Formats: sequence, C-alpha cells, structure tokens
Amino acid sequence: MSEQKTQPAELKIPGVDEPIELPIYSGNLGPDVIDVGKLTSQGHFTYDPGFVSTAACESGITYIDGDEGTLLHRGYPIEQLADKSDYLELCYLLLNGELPNAAAKTEFVDTIKNHTMVNEQLRSFFKGFSHDAHPMAIMCGVVGALSAFYHDSTDIDNPQHRMITAHRLIAKMPTLAAMSYKHAQGQPFIYPRNDMGYAENFLHMMFATPCEEYAVSPTLAKAMDRIFLLHADHEQNASTSTVRLAGSTGANPFASVAAGIAALWGPSHGGANEAVLTMLEEIGSVDNIPEYVRRAKDKDDPFRIMGFGHRVYKNYDPRAKVMQQTCHEVLEELGVQDDPVLAMARELERIALEDEYFVEKRLYPNVDFYSGIILKAIGIPVEMFTVIFATGRTPGWIAHWCEMIGSSYKIGRPRQLYTGSAKRDFVEVADR
Ligand code: SDX
Repeated sequence: MSEQKTQPAELKIPGVDEPIELPIYSGNLGPDVIDVGKLTSQGHFTYDPGFVSTAACESGITYIDGDEGTLLHRGYPIEQLADKSDYLELCYLLLNGELPNAAAKTEFVDTIKNHTMVNEQLRSFFKGFSHDAHPMAIMCGVVGALSAFYHDSTDIDNPQHRMITAHRLIAKMPTLAAMSYKHAQGQPFIYPRNDMGYAENFLHMMFATPCEEYAVSPTLAKAMDRIFLLHADHEQNASTSTVRLAGSTGANPFASVAAGIAALWGPSHGGANEAVLTMLEEIGSVDNIPEYVRRAKDKDDPFRIMGFGHRVYKNYDPRAKVMQQTCHEVLEELGVQDDPVLAMARELERIALEDEYFVEKRLYPNVDFYSGIILKAIGIPVEMFTVIFATGRTPGWIAHWCEMIGSSYKIGRPRQLYTGSAKRDFVEVADR
C-alpha cells in the first residue's frame, strides 16, 4: 500500500509567488513518487517523453531494481522462481499474489488444461493470412479476434469474469502460437492434449503431425517452461503499459492484450530476441565483432547491439544470467558442442562488457541476448521468437489488467508540449 509522506515536495516556478506543494508517496520498495496531478490547475504540465521518470500507476505485482539487477514477482526473486518453481505456478502467483498450495496448484493446472482449445471458427481466420505472414502479425489478428468470441459474455467488473479471461488467455496463447507456426509450414493444426504439461503440450502442437506419434524431449520441455517463466512479467514495460492504457478505456481484455502484442513486436522491445539472431548472423564471425562494436558506438550509425541495454537495468538483467545458464544446460544435454552462434554471442558480450562506452553507459545483456540461442537449439524458428515472448508474457499482461480493473482507475490520457501553428483562418484554394 502507498503512504503519503508528511513533508510535501515544493516546486518553485518563476512568476508564481508561492511554491506549489506536491504530495509525496512511498511504496514498499523503490523510489518515492511525487504526485503532480494538480499542476494542470496551476497552468503547467510535466514533460517526460518515453516516461523515463514517470510512474503511471500503483502496482504490487513485480518489482525491479535496475541498479541492483533485482527482479521480484510478488516478492519472490526470479532466480529462486526459475530454480524451484514452474511457469503455471508463476502464472498463479502473478494473478493471485501468493504461491498456490498443492490443491490450489492442481486445480489451477486442470483449469488451464480445460481452456486450451480455441473455437473451431477461429481456424478460418488463419486462411486469410499468406503462408509467409509474420507470425506476430497473425497473433495480433487472432488474439484480437478472441474478443469476438468473449465480448457480450464478459463483464469486466465481475472478478470471476476477469479470472476466467485470464485463464482463457494463458491457456489459449500456446494453441494460437503453434497454429501460427503450422500455418506457415502448411501443416495441419495439432489439437492441444490434456495429458501433457504446458510446455510439453506447446512443443507437441508445434512439431507433431497427424502422421505419427511425436514424443517431446523432457529436456526441451523443461527449457521451454523456463523460457516462458523468465518472460512472464516485467513491471510497466512498453507492452504492459499498452495493455493498461487500452484497458483503461474499458476495452475488451482480449483486444487490450492484442494491443500489447503489437507493442511487443517492435525490435526495441520483444522483437529484440529475433533481432539478436539476425544480428549474429550478420556479424558472421568472431573476427568481425570489433567492427560491429565500433559501429554500435557510432552515433551516425543506426546499428545497435541487439539484446544489450535496458531502460531500467543499469546492471546485468537477472533473467539474462539465468538464460545464459539455461543455454549451457540445454546445449550440453543436446550434445551441441561449441555452438558457433553461442561462441560469437559470448565473445560479443565479453568485448562489449570490457568496452568503456558500454561500461560508461551501463549497458549489459538483457533477457533477449541469450534467449534466441536456446530457442534455436530447441528448434524454434527465428520468426517465432517474439511469439514465444508474447506467450510467456501473457500472465503479466492480464495480471496487470486485472489489477487495474479491480482497483479505482482513470482512463489514460497524457497531455503534450504543443509546438504546432498558432490559430489561423482558413484560406480558399484559389488564394493559396
Ligand atoms: C525488452 O522495459 C522492459 O522491461 C522491456 C523488457 C521486458 O521484459 O518487458 O525487459 C524486454 O524489451 C528488453 C530490451 C530489448 N531491446 C533491445 O535489446 C534493443 C537494443 N537496446 C536498445 O535499443 C535500448 O537499450 C533500449 C531500447 C532497450 C532502452 O533504450 P532507452 O532506455 O531509451 O535508452 P537509450 O536508447 O536512450 O540508450 C541510452 C544510451 C544511448 O546513447 P546516448 O544517446 O546517451 O549517447 O545508450 C545507448 C544509446 O545510443 N545504447 C546503445 C544500446 N542501447 C542503448 N548503444 C549501443 N547498443 C545498444 N544496444
């Protein structure tokens, strides 16, 4: 819960006699916030493009300390969750605020299993996409289309309706993700199986065919579950903020999550995992790394090292550390010795972390730097990497939506610094 501090902030504005008193609130962890809401009545807006210093909401779901490289989900460190928990247990934690006991966990897993199928009519949506449509374009479309099946029956002010919406999204995203892959392959869709675990079921829907039994490797299923877990939530990132902003108008939650998928697709956000592999392929060999590091530092060169840097983390992204460790485990268990792409990634990381430009700007590998190498080892094609991110991030998106709709919230409506034309009269075309 937030608490107002006794001493307000004082803002002194030239031409305004008295300093403006602004309330300060403290949370349980992290910086205090200064409530600037009343500035408009004083004839001023704050100005913070990209929301670098702006807290847009109060939340109790995830806490990040960028300087320490800390990530907590409902207070539990990501390292402990990755080591001891699993993806569906984390989904329950994000939605409910506490880890489930054995009975609650069994009930939650069974509930999710019973929502994995999608309406058969959704299959026809895929026919409208060309075979080479990017799977993220398909996901934007088909997740948004879920709102057509669950609109009149969803009362967002009913907590039970909000929870079943969360269950439906968590359950159906792997099914739709696998369908977007099968569409590109020209292969028949594979139905979800209730006798399989969440990640195992996803890999089965991705790679099985009706022609023969397909056994999913337990190693790959475990790695896939770990990847979903590491992507589950990340505070008020661009895509989660998009879901909150869309949802703040009272929009359908499936449509709001589709907006989040669109935001995630960008290469500065979730699209970075695909961009890392494309970048490593472009670099081509360890010998070329110094030239690319030089280009990354050149302001006149648009090249950036994808998978490096973060708005919040000015230390190593804790998820990247777990991802790197998982990378080694998976490649070792698969008997992949000296993966050249991994070797190049590790050399790029070593060189960059020693370079004063990256040290001075506090640029470290983020969650996307190693995830693509594991996904490639699992057999996931590069164009599906961001779809995997979207699938993993779904519980975070919908937990934040539930938290917002379940509390007192306002429609999001930022203001602007206007630099356009002053008022002027219309000029007839003959006089222009
Ligand atoms: C995700 O917000 C989240 O939590 C996101 C995420 C999540 O889980 O939801 O963690 C997932 O999106 C991770 C980030 C994935 N994106 C990338 O890896 C793309 C490469 N990274 C950059 O584009 C950048 O670091 C951002 C977009 C991630 C962060 O950008 P910021 O915070 O706006 O910082 P910036 O771009 O202003 O960079 C600060 C400085 C700049 O130099 P100056 O203008 O100060 O001289 O650092 C430089 C940048 O040029 N810089 C880089 C760099 N990233 C930043 N220089 C070279 N290579 C890079 N990768």
